[in-house]
Amino acid sequence: MIDFAYRTSNDYLEAKEKATDNPEAFWNEVAITFDWHKPWVKVLEYDFHKPSVKWFLGGKLNITENCLDRHLKTQPNQTAIIFEPNDLSEAAQRISYKELHSRVCQAANMLKANGAKKGDRICIYMPMVPELAIAVLACARIGAIHSVVFAGFSASALATRINDADCKMLLTADGGYRGNKVTPLKAIADEALTQCASITHCIVLKRTGQNIAWNTIDLWWHEEIEKVTNNCPAEIMDSEDPLFILYTSGSTGTPKGMVHSCGGYMVYTAFSFQNVFQYQKGDVYWCTADIGWITGHSYIIYGPLAVGATTLMFEGVPSYPDYDRFWEVCAKHKVNQFYTAPTAIRALQKHPSELVSKHDLSSLKVLGSVGEPINEEAWHWYDEHVGKKKCPIVDTWWQTETGGILITSLAGVTPQKPTYATLPMPGVQVVLLDNEGNEIEAEAEGILAIKHPWPSIARTIWGNHERYKNVYFSAYPGYYFPGDGALRDAQGNYRITGRVDDVVIVSGHNLGTAPIENALNEHESVVESAVVGFPHDVKGNALYAFVITNDIIDDEEALVDALRAIVAKTIGPIAKPDCIQVVSGLPKTRSGKIMRRILRKIAADQLDNMGDISTLLNPEIVEEIIKNKP
Ligand code: WT7
Repeated sequence: MIDFAYRTSNDYLEAKEKATDNPEAFWNEVAITFDWHKPWVKVLEYDFHKPSVKWFLGGKLNITENCLDRHLKTQPNQTAIIFEPNDLSEAAQRISYKELHSRVCQAANMLKANGAKKGDRICIYMPMVPELAIAVLACARIGAIHSVVFAGFSASALATRINDADCKMLLTADGGYRGNKVTPLKAIADEALTQCASITHCIVLKRTGQNIAWNTIDLWWHEEIEKVTNNCPAEIMDSEDPLFILYTSGSTGTPKGMVHSCGGYMVYTAFSFQNVFQYQKGDVYWCTADIGWITGHSYIIYGPLAVGATTLMFEGVPSYPDYDRFWEVCAKHKVNQFYTAPTAIRALQKHPSELVSKHDLSSLKVLGSVGEPINEEAWHWYDEHVGKKKCPIVDTWWQTETGGILITSLAGVTPQKPTYATLPMPGVQVVLLDNEGNEIEAEAEGILAIKHPWPSIARTIWGNHERYKNVYFSAYPGYYFPGDGALRDAQGNYRITGRVDDVVIVSGHNLGTAPIENALNEHESVVESAVVGFPHDVKGNALYAFVITNDIIDDEEALVDALRAIVAKTIGPIAKPDCIQVVSGLPKTRSGKIMRRILRKIAADQLDNMGDISTLLNPEIVEEIIKNKP
């Protein structure tokens, strides 16, 4: 196992000082511990005004050699992946580093045999089975750029992503198991592919055995894999070559294909994984995220495998067959580090605590939280019932765009504070800005910004560098702007207060309101719509849609159902609004801009402090909307 974790707060503070004084010397030292074919000539080159960021310039490597080959020398029989299937009746699998290496190489040859090469984009739309991790690593092995699309997304969302990246190949499965549902992945993919001319090969993994349609471009994974060997030398990549694209929703327009590159991403995910979770040799680490999200990329696959850890992959959901599945899996595999989302904690907290206490959770050493601010109540429940008050909790703040965790405590090494993500990682220079973009000092509340690059920052938005500049580097020139607000206590701890843009985090999923509005507007009866978030006790936030219709609606219930179905079809079920209200108008400024601030207050039932509405074009509409709230 590779070990560069700080195990004491002294070591950590020392590292932090070094990283702040001389980030390049600091990251140089970390990066040297990896296997490179050729060392870099320069550690960092950046210009936040351009913007352009490059790390380890001229360095040559392949990330899979670091995640697989180098562990073959020291720990070939160590378990790399533990797979826990959806159904209890199916046996768990343990895949050693040696076996994973062999299966990745063979899958890489399968991709090559079907025409894939360095730089091609390959879309992966698969359930949470080992072959998903293998597919990701196989792409990286040959230098193809993977674009994983979460298997809960709809056909049209999949098609949009395939077309945006001009993917050549699709890797999918006949279906996927999730709780008591079977998702017809191949059928959804078939529907998507009617709109995707660029895909020439579709490789299908047999998982459920359900009936599927078969097209001329389709190939069975199990047949193709038989035709090739498991000997596949790694493609040598430049440090700055793209490793993958991962889409995240923005506050406007189409999803943003965030591009991560090979060298910096590898160094930062491995470094942060080991430090944050204080992973030690032999530990079993479990992150419950889906590989379709950045958490799964960085902290199920790349980070853990790069250091030689044992990482658990779970196919199912926390509620199946019952609400104790997480705890059952922790006990069964003696999980040491457990990393999940506040929305899952809040959902589980609603069920009797015997569901937790009946399982032996004594193996747990560290708990983690990610995806949204964790509220006080959920934090304490997690601490008491799951951690038995002896496991440090790391509340990790980061984003798809940041590639790795940026603000967090290190488990048991630095102090934790409920609801606070706490301190920036070494080399991460976080500041708070006021509305004019001035840095504010000491205890304060403001806009979160970062003033120096870290190795795993996304380098661009696929095909749209201008948008990358506009979204992240233009609001406050010279800084990276993540879109979150935060407050800072006297000790320098950060508490993330939530988004400051039109993105709403629902059950830990980042959803832009604009694409949902566009979907609603597709309905023939809808003239205009506005979607806002409001607090929800399990999901963190839920969506509230206000819609103006072109006619009197006789059957409002039918309209609401139809609208929810359109959103599910265009984006995915996670984006369905909880509440849809038909209104005769929306509060607007004189220049015609929707006053979302007012809609957010109405949706959240915060009616006592609406602020000044007299400047609205149509102040009377506010009263009417409140009166007709369902
Ligand atoms: C947004 C990024 C990071 C992987 C999962 C989500 C929110 C994330 C925290 C946290 C408060 C958090 C932020 C961020 N967020 N972690 N620990 N505390 N807020 O990735 O989909 O790119 O979303 O999630 O608002 O900007 P993502």
